[in-house]
Amino acid sequence: MYSSVQFDSVMLKKYDTFGPRYTSYPTAIQFNPAFTGSDYKREIELSNGIGKPLSLYFHIPYCKSLCFFCACNKIISHSDQARTVPYLERLYKEIKLQANLVNSDRQVNQLHLGGGTPTYLNDDQLAELMAVTADEFNLAPIGSREFSIEVDPRTVRENTISMLAEHGFNRISFGVQDLDIKVQQGVNRIQTYDQNMAVIDAARTSGYASISLDLIYGLPFQTVEGFDRTLERIIAMQPDRLAVYNYAHMPHRIKAQKLIKEQDLPDAATKLGLLELTITRLQEAGYVYIGMDHFALPDDELVKAMENGTLQRNFQGYSTHADTDMIGMGMTSIGKTDNCYSQNQRYEKAYFQDIDEGQLAIMQGYSLSADDQVRRDVIQRLMCQGLVEFESISQQFGIDFHHYFAEELQRLKPLANDGLIQLQESDISILPLGRLLLRNIAMVFDIYRPRTVTDQLFSKVI
Ligand SMILES: C[S@@+](CC[C@H](N)C(=O)[O-])C[C@H]1O[C@@H](n2cnc3c(N)ncnc32)[C@H](O)[C@@H]1O
Ligand code: SF4
Repeated sequence: MYSSVQFDSVMLKKYDTFGPRYTSYPTAIQFNPAFTGSDYKREIELSNGIGKPLSLYFHIPYCKSLCFFCACNKIISHSDQARTVPYLERLYKEIKLQANLVNSDRQVNQLHLGGGTPTYLNDDQLAELMAVTADEFNLAPIGSREFSIEVDPRTVRENTISMLAEHGFNRISFGVQDLDIKVQQGVNRIQTYDQNMAVIDAARTSGYASISLDLIYGLPFQTVEGFDRTLERIIAMQPDRLAVYNYAHMPHRIKAQKLIKEQDLPDAATKLGLLELTITRLQEAGYVYIGMDHFALPDDELVKAMENGTLQRNFQGYSTHADTDMIGMGMTSIGKTDNCYSQNQRYEKAYFQDIDEGQLAIMQGYSLSADDQVRRDVIQRLMCQGLVEFESISQQFGIDFHHYFAEELQRLKPLANDGLIQLQESDISILPLGRLLLRNIAMVFDIYRPRTVTDQLFSKVI
């Protein structure tokens, strides 16, 4: 059964290399500034012809304090809440610009507020953002929409969680990371058990369909014993979903991470121990491994989607909503249509400047070639279904899979010999041992990887 996963430290060490997480293919490294607003407009027009439903992403970058590990695109602003006003002014202008480009009959069935910390906005601002969005876009009726938000339990106000539910939010994720005080001190994020329970209780009372918690393994001062205590208490909280991220330590790219001393990080053996513990404990507790750090309870929609083959992978991780085009709004956000990716300006100043000039704030993007499309589909199937049937790909793209991927099929043989995959005449299927090494398997189909793989660009697989 695809949901089972096997931990093997020898194989994990053997395949522990740097690699992309494939929230997109090609990955963001391939995006380039030659892709401009007019390319984007052309791509959106093409997507209107296909008319897929929409998924909206809003990036709210502000946070009250810096977590030393954080790799997100954020602006730390301890007390200057007024700073959000000029940001929202631009965001509303962008919402109008973007909405004008898409056909009004295209329904929004998925919406995500991410950050930074979206609840850095006050309740009136959050309500206003939803009202502006509802005015400009065609939001699906409550019941057929999936609206989600990332919330920091340390700073969210008491009534915000219920207020968001009234605005149609039905999925919520809370950043927790670790309950161990020494680890919390090491990453500058003190967060009590009571703070976590208070927000979980509020989300349950407000009727959220899915509550998710974020943890990270590989943080400074983490030990297997300490993380075991954390997991025990987290399991007792019974979140519907858990993301247990592998800490990506890339201080050369993310300056704040320089505040974490290398010598305080768990060594390779401890990190493997943390991963093994996580998988064992969560599986014992009945959680199903979805893939790439994500777990869910068996009755969660993600598990059902995994079992019936409708699971998707996008910039927010795994999702149940198949086949949407994503419109990203706010600085640094990424959008996606069938044929392109686009990314907004990374810095506040450049974002403001573009919007003030009445134009989209696109910093870079990418139009997919026919070859990219085939490879993206193969990688998506590997990451979400664990199965690539050659005939199905051949028919969909008018190719002969064996011929087209002759080299890749050769390169997969050692992975098959190591028990990561089963390589048959008609398909590739991921075996329990390969489920923790999905990106190594996907990398075989990534045509850009030989040119782009360096430790400067990607995090480690383990
Ligand atoms: C935008 S934050 C979540 C919302 C809110 N800002 C908070 O921290 O509670 C997204 C999540 O990304 C994860 N994350 C951030 N930096 C990371 C890193 N360097 N490695 C692994 N996970 C990371 C954390 O688990 C964090 O909760
Ligand atoms: S983890 Fe969350 S709260 Fe901490 S700096 Fe990153 S985005 Fe902000």
